[in-house]
Amino acid sequence: MIRTVQLTKSFGERTLWRDVDLEVSTGKMLALVGPSGSGKTTLLNCLGLLEQPSGGDILHDGKRLTRLGAGGRRRFRRAHLGYLFQNYALMENATIKQNLDVAGRDQQLQSRALERVGLAGREREKVHRMSGGEQQRIALARLMVKKPSLVLADEPTGALDEDNGRMVIDTLRQMADEGCAVVVATHNDDVRDACDEVFDVHTQRLAVVG
Ligand SMILES: Nc1ncnc2c1ncn2[C@@H]1O[C@H](COP(=O)(O)OP(=O)(O)OP(=O)(O)O)[C@@H](O)[C@H]1O
Ligand SMILES: [Mg+2]
Repeated sequence: MIRTVQLTKSFGERTLWRDVDLEVSTGKMLALVGPSGSGKTTLLNCLGLLEQPSGGDILHDGKRLTRLGAGGRRRFRRAHLGYLFQNYALMENATIKQNLDVAGRDQQLQSRALERVGLAGREREKVHRMSGGEQQRIALARLMVKKPSLVLADEPTGALDEDNGRMVIDTLRQMADEGCAVVVATHNDDVRDACDEVFDVHTQRLAVVG
């Protein structure tokens, strides 16, 4: 479970969001919405300990992450975090298989993940030869192999057609059901509606879906 307490982020004079209190339990999905530039990615980066908030705390299973030093942050990311970010963060010159090995070497799990994202049997292909949408799906497969307890996804359906977008949503839901908390920044109504709660980063309103 991840929780923010009065989390605030400013750049100079400009405050993106102030005193944000959010809680995402295991099994739940939270959507972050709001206009471009409202601070969705920045909030994800703070939750992923890639950026420092200006104030407030982030707690993970009761542990205060905002107190961690560089080493502690790195260990937390390695042990608990799964990113699905806009640049995919793949090793471009490596094969699909090599990218999955970084997350875990269970062959059965790797095969199942590749099948799930529609890339079965393509382990040996180089990532830089693949399309944007295919790379996005490799990043998703890698997440399934890692099985993190917290998934942070930034526009995970951005480069995808409708069918693959649906597949991403269903996979994130399945990962939540299997024991992780999911936070996803999105402009897509289908993604938003698939979540349990929606936080508008601009108005700072939290709503329950459905
Ligand atoms: N390091 C930084 N220094 C100054 N301003 C920054 C920095 N990082 C982000 N910003 C600003 O913070 C604002 C929020 O950016 P962010 O990327 O979080 O928005 P977003 O809601 O994800 O937008 P989009 O929907 O377009 O992805 C932007 O105006 C951006 O320019
Ligand atoms: Mg963004």
